[in-house]
Amino acid sequence: EQQAAQDVRRLTRTVADFPVDGVQFADLSPVFADGPALAHVVAALATAGPCDLVAGIDARGFLLGSGVALNLGVGVLPVRKAGKLPPPVHSESYALEYGEATLQVPAEGIELRGRRVLVVDDVLATGGTVAAAVALLRRCGAEVVGAAVVLEIPGLGGREVLDGLPLTCLVPA
Ligand code: PRP
Repeated sequence: EQQAAQDVRRLTRTVADFPVDGVQFADLSPVFADGPALAHVVAALATAGPCDLVAGIDARGFLLGSGVALNLGVGVLPVRKAGKLPPPVHSESYALEYGEATLQVPAEGIELRGRRVLVVDDVLATGGTVAAAVALLRRCGAEVVGAAVVLEIPGLGGREVLDGLPLTCLVPA
């Protein structure tokens, strides 16, 4: 876990004013592209388990969520941005640090009722994205056991928005 945090600090590229002015963008691409770092990060995120299912948030949460799911021996649910899934879907809209977005999961074919789900994403900023995923999954009857992210951007109140939900963060604010 310590190793994962070191890898993330060493490899993450922080870019100011992207995609809009005032936003600090944390680009984890170099972490994903480094085999040992990816393994360390996924193993550290998996300590947020156990769970019955991992929910990975579009788009970088897919990469991490898949690894965490394999690590925990469970499946992965891609929580998608609007317009990618065929109907019927469950939707949840939210305000982003920049703009607005909608998350969706299939309304048929995957039973979420009563399942313990772990939400995985790369970065927690305002917390709007993870909070929307949590709300969406709960509305589908899932029991959300926690959220796991690689990085927390300080000063944006993301943790508070999660309202006591257990949060695993490899590089805390
Ligand atoms: C980024 C990041 C998180 C979210 C965090 O995704 O990957 O999902 O923002 O921000 P928040 O805590 O303020 O909600 P982005 O919306 O850029 O989407 P992408 O992964 O599709 O690029």
